[in-house]
Amino acid sequence: MAFRFDRGFQLLLVAFSSTQLAVGHPLFNGHVISRSEDLLPAYDYVVVGAGASGLTVANRLSEEPNISVLIIEAGDFDKKEDYVTIPGLAGGAVGTKYDWNTTYIASASIGGRGISIPQGRVVGGSTKLNRMVFDRGSKSDYDGWEALGNKGWNFDGLLPYFKKNEKFSPATKGIKEEYGIKDDVRFRGDKGYMQTTYSPFFWPTTKNFIQATKDLKIPINDQATGNAFGGYFCTHNMDQNYSRSSAEEAYYASAAARPNFHILTGNQVTRILTGSSPDGTVKVTGMEFASAKDASRQSVQVTKEAILAAGALHSPQLLQISGIGDPKLLKSLNVTTVIDLPAVGHNLHDHLNSVVVNILNTTVLTNTLGTNATFAAAARQEYDTQRSGPLTSPSGDFLLFLPLSTYSPASEAIFAQAAAGDPSASLPPDTPPSVAKGYAAQYASLNKKLLAKDSAVLEIIWADGAVVLGLQHPYSRGRLSAASSSIFDAPVADVGFLRNPLDVALLREGVRWARRFAQTPGIGALRPFEVVPGPNVTADADIDAHVRGSVSTLYHPAGTCKMGLRAEGGVVDADLKVYGVDGLRVVDASVMPMLPASHTMTTVYAVAEKAAEIIKRSGGYREMARV
Ligand SMILES: Cc1cc2nc3c(=O)[nH]c(=O)nc-3n(C[C@H](O)[C@H](O)[C@H](O)COP(=O)(O)OP(=O)(O)OC[C@H]3O[C@@H](n4cnc5c(N)ncnc54)[C@H](O)[C@@H]3O)c2cc1C
Ligand SMILES: *[C@@H]1O[C@H](CO)[C@@H](O)[C@H](O)[C@H]1NC(C)=O
Ligand SMILES: *[C@@H]1O[C@H](CO)[C@@H](O)[C@H](O)[C@H]1NC(C)=O
Ligand SMILES: *[C@@H]1O[C@H](CO)[C@@H](O)[C@H](O)[C@H]1NC(C)=O
Ligand SMILES: *[C@@H]1O[C@H](CO)[C@@H](O)[C@H](O)[C@H]1NC(C)=O
Ligand SMILES: *[C@@H]1O[C@H](CO)[C@@H](O)[C@H](O)[C@H]1NC(C)=O
Ligand SMILES: *[C@@H]1O[C@H](CO)[C@@H](O)[C@H](O)[C@H]1NC(C)=O
Ligand SMILES: *[C@@H]1O[C@H](CO)[C@@H](O)[C@H](O)[C@H]1NC(C)=O
Repeated sequence: MAFRFDRGFQLLLVAFSSTQLAVGHPLFNGHVISRSEDLLPAYDYVVVGAGASGLTVANRLSEEPNISVLIIEAGDFDKKEDYVTIPGLAGGAVGTKYDWNTTYIASASIGGRGISIPQGRVVGGSTKLNRMVFDRGSKSDYDGWEALGNKGWNFDGLLPYFKKNEKFSPATKGIKEEYGIKDDVRFRGDKGYMQTTYSPFFWPTTKNFIQATKDLKIPINDQATGNAFGGYFCTHNMDQNYSRSSAEEAYYASAAARPNFHILTGNQVTRILTGSSPDGTVKVTGMEFASAKDASRQSVQVTKEAILAAGALHSPQLLQISGIGDPKLLKSLNVTTVIDLPAVGHNLHDHLNSVVVNILNTTVLTNTLGTNATFAAAARQEYDTQRSGPLTSPSGDFLLFLPLSTYSPASEAIFAQAAAGDPSASLPPDTPPSVAKGYAAQYASLNKKLLAKDSAVLEIIWADGAVVLGLQHPYSRGRLSAASSSIFDAPVADVGFLRNPLDVALLREGVRWARRFAQTPGIGALRPFEVVPGPNVTADADIDAHVRGSVSTLYHPAGTCKMGLRAEGGVVDADLKVYGVDGLRVVDASVMPMLPASHTMTTVYAVAEKAAEIIKRSGGYREMARV
């Protein structure tokens, strides 16, 4: 079946399980279905969302020629705009038609501000919008998932899938020698679809950042090995031409020619259709979708499983409006409860950051691209003709991930405060008891991290004199709730930032560290002058006010369909199956019980690679990881 599927061939899908799967179904032009009438009436697997996780799972399932896969994506294909493909312009798709333009609701704990939380709405999902930081968390992060009751979900268990995802290329000789980058290639993959490498150009003040790291005696590690703390050189998802390698280039392009892989774009799944047998078993039967709020609803049958990969804000919304969630919420939405699963949408958390901004006395900074047209034109010319220079770097070529004791002398005191604290201070009102019980276990795990040397509490991103302070293991939790029974109404996302004052304390210590950092010889050479929050902001209360007034998101929402025991607020089990429903899994960032101390994309891919294998095995495909 490995031929290119062109107009003129008959689609001969041999259905092994389903008689509905038509043999000799009328043709459509290729695998991209632009008219929903051209869909098959039924698919073995229907995946919701063509982002990082959805494309990964759909690709791997469609490796089996006798499995039929449909992926439904709300957005369209992009047009390879420069702001999507060129690393130096990464992030430029935020706020365009490729962005859902979602927001976190205003809350008193952050000075009554709402915060915009971009999410990709395009084939490739958020991997088209993101800043291309390609990193893993620490061993302790993933081992913590297993300790919360998820057997096999630990660093060693995920490592084969981190490797399976990537095709790693080392840094250029020049960068390697100049910066002394050492990779332990045993931890990297060389056969995956996701191309990863280091930038061939680092912005000049990266040297100051690295020098300051050494001045402070912070060790430099290799993040791929499970030791993602201290400082590290950071890889990016880009190909050998220094063009973005998104989920589309990686997992769509390599599956597109398969006749059993179909994608319907420009359509939103509006409801998961379920039926129940006389013995009360609830099973997924189909997917309903529509191209617009007022367009007619259509549906396809699902013969094996529906797989949710709509991201941490949309997967729980879809469950809720399909009747799977908290009966109280569903009643308020006029949705009939199919499965009483109150944890759906709870445990929402995200990496949040405050900032200390310094003006530097130096000429070449990343913002020079925006302020100096001559410089920008030369950089563009160099990128276009030689694939080198400033535009090959999405920035973030070196990062710090600091354990609390590395950045604060107050770790013992904060630990004591946490140990004496009440976990419920982190949770929104009316948290169901099962969710609170599961969170209590997370709280204990978070407390341990405050004293651990192998777990980062704060990420430091150095951006033109701005010291971005990213809280990696926030205590606070929020809640995602559908706003109505329509998928076309944006969900209500209460992320809960700084709900628990412990998070303020952890960032306050970060602000103080940023000032010591600015005084190192490495950064001091740039003559930093602090403008935000300003040198007069030194008292605890004043720093706290700055933190509450400044925090924003690092774009890593997760946790809303938590993997865990049902009695502890789990929405999916360790096979990623939704409790109470046959034929339904979630495979995206929603399933992470707790965020790792890293950016999320790489972990999402590893989870999805593992998910695909779990699904294949449960369907009788015995193939093991091709690693
Ligand atoms: C601006 C930004 C910067 C980021 N920077 C980084 C970074 O530098 N490094 C990093 O590691 N991570 C980064 N991330 C995070 C990373 O991109 C995400 O964690 C990851 O893409 C999540 O994968 P996912 O599969 O859960 O969801 P997504 O990749 O967001 O995919 C979800 C898909 O589902 C579709 N969808 C939603 N609802 C429906 C529906 N009802 N029907 C059909 N389709 C639907 C969406 O349109 C989307 O395409 C960033 C994210 C953003 C937004
Ligand atoms: C699918 O095809 C493979 C060989 O390509 C075969 O080994 C497997 O048994 C088939 N699976 C089912 C469920 O029919
Ligand atoms: C997001 O906002 C931008 C700017 O207003 C708009 O052009 C775009 O269409 C919006 N995205 C969606 C999916 O509506
Ligand atoms: C790089 O670009 C060249 C020329 O456009 C192309 O032939 C090649 O396939 C590209 N390589 C990668 C790794 O994308
Ligand atoms: C639910 O239905 C009632 C009665 O029809 C209506 O008044 C209410 O607005 C509906 N609520 C929502 C959220 O749609
Ligand atoms: C900025 O740098 C220039 C050149 O090194 C130097 O002459 C000048 O005194 C510096 N200014 C400040 C405020 O440090
Ligand atoms: C702008 O950039 C060019 C090229 O790098 C440089 O020669 C020039 O001095 C810069 N101009 C300013 C105002 O910094
Ligand atoms: C710090 O100084 C600025 C500018 O003078 C002022 O606006 C601000 O209120 C001061 N903040 C504190 C905490 O004193």
